[in-house]
Amino acid sequence: MPDDAERATTVEVLRVERKGAISVLTMTGANMNALSRRLRAALFDAMADAADDPTVHAVLLAADGPAWCAGADLKEMDSPESEADPSLQEAIFGLIRSMDKPIIAVIAGAALGGGFELALGCHHRLATRNARIGLPEVTLGLLPGAGGTQHLPRAIGLEAAANAILSGRTDRAAAFEGTALFDAMLGDNPLAEALAFAETLPRAAQPPLLRDRPVGHPNPEAYLKAVRMAVEGNPRRTSGHLPAVDCLLAAATKPYEQGMAFEYAAFRAARADRASEPFRYAFLAERRAAQVPGLDPAVKPRPLDSVAVIGAGVMGRGIALACAQVGLPVILMDQAEDALSRAMAAIAKTIGDGVARGRTTEAEAARTLSLVATATDPDAIAGCDLVIEAVVETMAVKQAVFQALDRTMKPGAILATNTSTLDIDRIAAFTSRPADVVGLHFFNPANVMRLLEVVRGKATADSVLATALAFGKRLRKVSVVAGVCDGFIGNRMVEQYLRQAQFLVEEGASPTEVDGALERWGMAMGPFRMMDLAGNDVNDAIRQRRRAEKPDAILADIPDILTANGWLGQKSGTGWYSHPPGARRPVENAELTAALAQWRAENGIVPRRIKAEEIVDRCILALVNEGAALLAEGIASRASDIDVVYLTGYGFPSAKGGPMHVADRLGLRPVLRRMRAFAAIGHGDPGFWTPHPLLTRLAADLKSLSEHGASE
Ligand code: NAI
Repeated sequence: MPDDAERATTVEVLRVERKGAISVLTMTGANMNALSRRLRAALFDAMADAADDPTVHAVLLAADGPAWCAGADLKEMDSPESEADPSLQEAIFGLIRSMDKPIIAVIAGAALGGGFELALGCHHRLATRNARIGLPEVTLGLLPGAGGTQHLPRAIGLEAAANAILSGRTDRAAAFEGTALFDAMLGDNPLAEALAFAETLPRAAQPPLLRDRPVGHPNPEAYLKAVRMAVEGNPRRTSGHLPAVDCLLAAATKPYEQGMAFEYAAFRAARADRASEPFRYAFLAERRAAQVPGLDPAVKPRPLDSVAVIGAGVMGRGIALACAQVGLPVILMDQAEDALSRAMAAIAKTIGDGVARGRTTEAEAARTLSLVATATDPDAIAGCDLVIEAVVETMAVKQAVFQALDRTMKPGAILATNTSTLDIDRIAAFTSRPADVVGLHFFNPANVMRLLEVVRGKATADSVLATALAFGKRLRKVSVVAGVCDGFIGNRMVEQYLRQAQFLVEEGASPTEVDGALERWGMAMGPFRMMDLAGNDVNDAIRQRRRAEKPDAILADIPDILTANGWLGQKSGTGWYSHPPGARRPVENAELTAALAQWRAENGIVPRRIKAEEIVDRCILALVNEGAALLAEGIASRASDIDVVYLTGYGFPSAKGGPMHVADRLGLRPVLRRMRAFAAIGHGDPGFWTPHPLLTRLAADLKSLSEHGASE
């Protein structure tokens, strides 16, 4: 028996109660009930007490909060704590196996990863239909390490288990109703129903466990061979996928104990594999972004029950749809009636497509659509809690809109702008309430893209920032807070990335070579395909502005050829590529190739073959140098926030963890050395490659980018 001092450290994570002959253990919800060493210890102690107490006939394992158990504590994952006694697979499962009374998992929230594995190791499982279950380990470069690959096939069959484990997806528990995964589904009173279930169970010397069931597949070798081939061909596979397939084969072909040992060894190998680390870094970076330095977590968000969006263009309609999809009533306002009707038609079409693809039901679709109202009269939105401006990108127009909002909106309403480039402090100054103004920078399409840059102005009130973050969370987006500057975090960095890509083409690479190198490296879309998608007129507008602001700025010449020819990209059918109607991939724009050759000849540039490695390094390190400037200026609070922006908004591969993480893994000394070599090439803007002083300082102090600001 643990003594009182030992027990005292575990009381907050687990509550122990008695209901007649049944012991009810409730995980209290701290840290999503992640299986920290502390929670494991508390579970072990309470289960051992119940095992030793002859008056206890059964044990319910329940939880408070939205998560039944969110799985391994990733903060511990790479530390000795994660392996420390008591372990799930040995100590806790060993205890459960020795018990002569059943442990029943009562799942009314999310049971994910190690949490789901804990449930799989119990004698019985009961779940509400809406409980979320899944083994997302492969998305973190890992695989289940506490019996998931051994128990799940025994509960739902090898093929269903392989689909679940290799997709890493979460499912509603109801998807597995009727399988051996659940003894019964729970209704509105989960605990009362679970108690009733426990009372009906016969006393047994050895209650049943999934380990005693066969996997039962006619030909696991052939099936998993096909699965393996499919996984090998999947470019998005992580370091966890193939070992997971091996573990499933072990489950089907080896005795249970051997399968468990095999899985644990494979899990440890994947965790130790350097290739798996960026996935976990990315996961933690996303969560860290929600903690904003200087924002007191005790600050309460303002109430937010209604939203207005001004401007029914591309962005406005996407933002309105994003709100409606999470149940927020929204009024879409535009000065032009026809803009509103086009927007409503587009919104209805997107919602309808969701029904056609089986993503939503007719009823949900109708409900979503009914949440979007339209208006042309500013008074119609005066009572909304939040208004998001998404009109054209011109300061004069924004000024008129914000002055009008200042006159009409109720006191305390949040006035947000979706501007991509304009100075939010100036916009705030057009109103008499700058503290209520904030930037909400969505990405196109706003109802799909996960990233939301929340731009904190000089005057933005903490309660406004807290509301903006709560709003982002409600939209199920990943919010990253940025300070005010032209382009914020993402677009300010991407400008340097695109500029490097253009210089590479001037020096001799083709758009296809540049895109190919970066896409093979892992970017979802290369820079030229990206520019053709966004529209080269957008880029040109930025270039013209830069030329006006800084007449001696060194910009690539080639985009002028596109502008002169009206090659806007996909929307005009020609850009950096040709986009023949109906073609799946763009093809070379032969006229551009010829124009490029002529431009090089006129400018005395002898084209050189540029290796993929140089292409990738120059584009990625351009992001890093500008990212360092953002950190030094305090526009981004930490390197990991920048990485989150790139992972969620710019198609950066999670396998690399983000541009700043790439630099940290490479080491800042090698980064500086490469930057100096790029400066020596001489073409383009060699001055850009002067490493930012923050990089030089961190390298001199033997620190990484992720350590910058970490202690503040
Ligand atoms: P858009 O040109 O598609 O739509 C603008 C809409 O605003 C039009 O329907 C127009 O009728 C309406 N409008 C103009 N003045 C108005 C006023 N005074 N009152 C009410 N409605 C008015 O523009 P888009 O692309 O949707 O961009 C809107 C804003 O979002 C801009 O600030 C842009 O920089 C920003 N943004 C755009 C992104 C993109 O990828 N297109 C990405 C992120 C931000």
